[in-house]
Amino acid sequence: ERQWEHDYYQLMEKVARYYQQQLKAGKQGERVITYLKDRGLSGEIARDFGLGFAPDEWHSLQALFGHDQSINKALVNCGMLIEKDSNRYDRFRDRVMFPIRDRRGRVIAFGGRVIDKGEPKYLNSPETDIFHKSRELYGLYEMRQFNRKVDWAVVVEGYMDVVSLAQFGVRNAVATLGTATSSTHIQQLFRVCSKIVFCFDGDRAGRDAALRALSHSIPQIKDNREIRFMFLPDGEDPDTQVRQVGAEVFCEEAQNAPSLFDFLMEHLKSQVDMDSFEGPGKLANLAKPFIDLMTDAIHRERFIQQLSLQVGLSEQKLNALLLDPPKQQS
Ligand code: GTP
Ligand code: MN
Ligand code: MN
Ligand code: MN
Ligand code: MN
Repeated sequence: ERQWEHDYYQLMEKVARYYQQQLKAGKQGERVITYLKDRGLSGEIARDFGLGFAPDEWHSLQALFGHDQSINKALVNCGMLIEKDSNRYDRFRDRVMFPIRDRRGRVIAFGGRVIDKGEPKYLNSPETDIFHKSRELYGLYEMRQFNRKVDWAVVVEGYMDVVSLAQFGVRNAVATLGTATSSTHIQQLFRVCSKIVFCFDGDRAGRDAALRALSHSIPQIKDNREIRFMFLPDGEDPDTQVRQVGAEVFCEEAQNAPSLFDFLMEHLKSQVDMDSFEGPGKLANLAKPFIDLMTDAIHRERFIQQLSLQVGLSEQKLNALLLDPPKQQS
């Protein structure tokens, strides 16, 4: 570990503590606590996730750390100070702060939410030397702290979804950080459990996000690994959903959500008119790129078996056509 990295982690930890203290004891903290309470969060959950408050000031971190040049530079490099012309000022002002920890529990970034209304609703740390969005999952460390042996994890969209689910006792949720699910995200999760449920909003954006997650997921299915796709009713997110149905129903629905292969088949079928002459052929062609991603022989065979029933060709014939399509006339 390089020396500056060590310094960065120490700085970030100190910032996180400062924000937490601002929430508990700061002049403006009470208003923020009221906001969190109104959203149904207890002090205990706020503590578990280290929630804090960035005061409505431009130079709170410089007041905290003093004017040492190398520390100020480090704060810029960590994304905590913005440098403009020869000025430096706090990136996060007047926001509820969610510290983002890596797998080892080190604070590497923050998400900040406006209190109540305002734009942008969320402000996130930029990519830095210690924070790579496509690798990190919010809540992974906290989930492991709570329970070393999780059977399954649910992947949601937002910080608030993770914290709110935890409030209801669902302590196995993690969130991607405003980016699409990456292969690295999935690998990270499969290191700690063998079953992943992606939970998407029921809207168009949720559907699109699911399709992106699907392509990254298929190559990682093997052995006893399992991935499921859960869609919430339109207009709901995990936070509002768990409030409505409760933890038990939420978890039951998550664990019984369509498997990756069922979701894939439904998605493919929804794109073609299976009653038309061309339908089955189109289905096979649409399936081809996904089948190419299937590295696990058993799952691949099984999917082809199901596809052959839909297409009306023997598995053997279908396999032959998928592997060696007739030459196209140009
Ligand atoms: P609440 O409104 O507090 O319930 O949060 P939410 O989690 O429901 O927020 P939303 O569904 O709007 O967004 C989900 C995630 O997308 C957030 O946790 C952020 O990571 C990201 N996000 C949302 N809004 C913004 C934004 O304005 N800017 C950026 N950079 N990211 C955002
Ligand atoms: Mn790095
Ligand atoms: Mn949405
Ligand atoms: Mn949401
Ligand atoms: Mn929400």
